[in-house]
Amino acid sequence: MADHDRMNDLEAEHEGFILHGAVVYSRDAKTLEAADDAYLICVDGLSKGVFSGIPEEYAGLPVHDLWDKLILPGFVDLHVHAPQYQFRSLGTDMELLEWLDTYVFREEASYSDLEYAERAYDLFVEDLYTGPTTRACVFATTDPDATLGLMDMLEETGLKTFVGKVNMDRNAPDYYVEDTEDSLAETYAFLDAVCESGYENTQPILTPRFTPACTRKLMDGLGRIAAERHLPVQSHLSENRREIEWVSELEKDAAFYGETYDRSGLFGSNGKCVMAHCVWSTEDEIALLKKRGVFIAHCPDSNLNLSSGIAPAKRYLEEGMRIGLGSDVAAGSTTSMFAAVRSAIQSSKARWRMFDESVKPLTFPEAFYMATKGGGAFFGQVGSFEEGYEFDALIIDDEPLSSMLDASGRIHAAERAERVMYLADDRHIAGKYVAGRQLF
Ligand code: GUN
Ligand code: FE
Repeated sequence: MADHDRMNDLEAEHEGFILHGAVVYSRDAKTLEAADDAYLICVDGLSKGVFSGIPEEYAGLPVHDLWDKLILPGFVDLHVHAPQYQFRSLGTDMELLEWLDTYVFREEASYSDLEYAERAYDLFVEDLYTGPTTRACVFATTDPDATLGLMDMLEETGLKTFVGKVNMDRNAPDYYVEDTEDSLAETYAFLDAVCESGYENTQPILTPRFTPACTRKLMDGLGRIAAERHLPVQSHLSENRREIEWVSELEKDAAFYGETYDRSGLFGSNGKCVMAHCVWSTEDEIALLKKRGVFIAHCPDSNLNLSSGIAPAKRYLEEGMRIGLGSDVAAGSTTSMFAAVRSAIQSSKARWRMFDESVKPLTFPEAFYMATKGGGAFFGQVGSFEEGYEFDALIIDDEPLSSMLDASGRIHAAERAERVMYLADDRHIAGKYVAGRQLF
């Protein structure tokens, strides 16, 4: 068989392409790989790696030349509330519990009006689609129909998401609290409806709001569902001091907050559990998170806005815990994961300088890692361009951010990526791929 026939066969069997530009990605938390002029190869939705020239075996694949553009992995938002998008950046003079009572419950309750939900979720989904996020763990509301509507919209975008119908059966206003049995029954019905929908990109995740809003009976019921259906879990943990005190008053049998999830089988069922915050986790709680392999969604912007504190993210990272970043909109002001990277670095510096010199500040490579490969691990082999990783990529047009240093060749790919975290927004995102599929 002639060479070109063999090549045509390869192309027919395998869909692939090559992106040519500056490429930056994480190998691990300490190692940021950066190349000014590289070829990034995608075959069948997976990365084949980053090369300085085109390897022989891929010579037949189409090459997209993006000379002056920067190619980054897609960003992973491990914690975001879709129904809070409308009031993002409002009300942050309050702390968590007051903020929930004043803003959150009322707004989330309004999503049982499906027409309102559709309009509001459409704006959230559009924002996620055009921004740096390629994968996300999303809280919806208690309303299963509105949540299914959100999932329909997310499915259409091609973004990969876990979406949860929220469960909460105590300590919430009458208009937004569920009966325990109804909450469990609606969760089963919701999960059945998701199965019937045959989504490709959108998966369900069990979502007890947090211990103050969930009885033991509800938690146990959700733990049974997690085990029966092999489902992942997301919730909040040790975010705010008053919240933690409240948990110790409500759950006297638990030695620490995290135990209230673990005793119901909600920590690390199926190896997949993500807890937002862990700002004030005790040594016992940290040991349990480690033992169960729970992912931590570090949400620095939210933790600053609600005066929750600053989580010791660097310590978690150095101890080999699983950790990524979350926007936590609306407690976080923006869905932009560039902002989350920036906020993680800046807040870690304040924490270090002001009150704990034992935990060093996060470096740029560490924060970049958390926002990509660290959080990506919740989705599988995601968040890097190493061979075998799902091909999620952002094409960044950072020309508008360039300075005289670029013109004189004194800025290279890694520095361009760092600058993007501080200066870029959606306008600089010229293209986006998820699992090898180009969204725009
Ligand atoms: N804890 C329980 N619910 C919430 C919420 O909606 N946002 C935040 N930041 N923390 C929570
Ligand atoms: Fe949250």
